[in-house]
Amino acid sequence: MVKFTGIGFPVFYLVRSLILLCLVENVLSGFTSSFIRSEWPSTDIPLDSAEFAVPEGYDPPQQVHITQGDYDGKAVIVSWVTMIEPGSTEVLYGKSNKYDLSAHGTITNYTYYKYTSGYIHRCILSGLEYNTKYYYKIGTESSAREFWFVTPPELGADASYTFGIIGDLGQTYNSLSTLDHYMSTKGQTVLFVGDLSYADRYQDNDGNRWDSWGRFIEKSVAYQPWIWSAGNHDIEYRSDLGEFSTFKAYLHRYTTPHIASKSSSPLWYAVRRASAHIIVLSSFSPFVKYTPQWLWLRNELKQVDREKTPWLIVIMHSPLYNSNSAHYMEGESMRAAFESWFVQFKIDLIFAGHVHAYERSYRVSNINYNITVGNCYPVPDKSAPVYITVGDGGNQEGLASRFLEPQPEYSAYREASYGHAVLELKNRTHAFYHWIRNDDGKSVPTDQVVFHNQYWASSPRRRLKKNQPNRQISLVATY
Ligand SMILES: [Fe+2]
Repeated sequence: MVKFTGIGFPVFYLVRSLILLCLVENVLSGFTSSFIRSEWPSTDIPLDSAEFAVPEGYDPPQQVHITQGDYDGKAVIVSWVTMIEPGSTEVLYGKSNKYDLSAHGTITNYTYYKYTSGYIHRCILSGLEYNTKYYYKIGTESSAREFWFVTPPELGADASYTFGIIGDLGQTYNSLSTLDHYMSTKGQTVLFVGDLSYADRYQDNDGNRWDSWGRFIEKSVAYQPWIWSAGNHDIEYRSDLGEFSTFKAYLHRYTTPHIASKSSSPLWYAVRRASAHIIVLSSFSPFVKYTPQWLWLRNELKQVDREKTPWLIVIMHSPLYNSNSAHYMEGESMRAAFESWFVQFKIDLIFAGHVHAYERSYRVSNINYNITVGNCYPVPDKSAPVYITVGDGGNQEGLASRFLEPQPEYSAYREASYGHAVLELKNRTHAFYHWIRNDDGKSVPTDQVVFHNQYWASSPRRRLKKNQPNRQISLVATY
């Protein structure tokens, strides 16, 4: 055993600190985790399991979920399904469980090949007060069910708020682990980056697996909004079954407030919440120049007010920067279409799914493409977003464990594990971010970063002294 005495003792700590600093620098130069999890089988939870249990009572409301109902967070859309009869469309709600307010909604349903859906209800509760807990009740008599939600703070540059980011969830025991881990965080709203139920993995895209998924996630989404984006498993185009429309189940079941942001489609839209402006894009809808999505995005980016909502976040399904062999380059066409705008408007973060692994990029751009001289490679760019892939919710397709080697310079951290991410917007200048790996039942924060806001932190004139970073996070990598 070595004993440190006299001057040797502080020298030891100095040397140790230098070694630790070097390790941090190594992480910042691109890191591929060697973590290998002993995973549960990637098979779906059986339909008769408790996770999918139908609530008690005659034809009770089930698959209850809420999402933001307007542009600025003063409305909520409540959705649920009744399987036998249409039932009441009324939602009773209020600041206490005396329910002094009420609203009536609408009912829809659909068929998909041989499957017929239940009665899908949706009801908008509008004119809500900010930062307020509301209780709501749906169904009648012994089948009535009660829930609650909390509205976000009023829009403001320093409005703190915590988002969870989940993608490619499916309905396996790994999915359950992700959901439970997320629910143990302080997340207030989920940004869902596409691929919901994976019902399309079943014979004839079995709609019963959409129903089970709705019951599976209810314990979170009935109490806090999930902001939806669609993935390839949600397309469900099956010409062999006579199903020629796209996103049929997704669009019937998971409504979005697209009209509030003047979008012509529920598949792409925007909402503002606390200090964030969230833009939802559709990787599997037309987006080239002059298409509705392209025209909408061009206009929406001009609406962004960074003085009011400094955090500009985009969610989509296919990642634009991905160094996994799975789905490699599939986001390239959208990158070519939109990346120059993402840099021009200094987007903070772009979250995607699709690849069943985790990856975070450095701030890079590749917008100088020139077909004549051959310029085409990512370069460090302080105005570029950080791209984060969180397609690791835990669906039945399993992990994407083969990364391209060597690790490209744009890739900061990558790991083939299941998990989810949490983004804590602290104020107009700083956000804490971490990705949480599902480590066999334990919730393990793994990749941790402090993000500087691209608008407020990019100009010294805009910085406020009161918003200096907290000293306790000074050793974490920052961007
Ligand atoms: Fe996908």
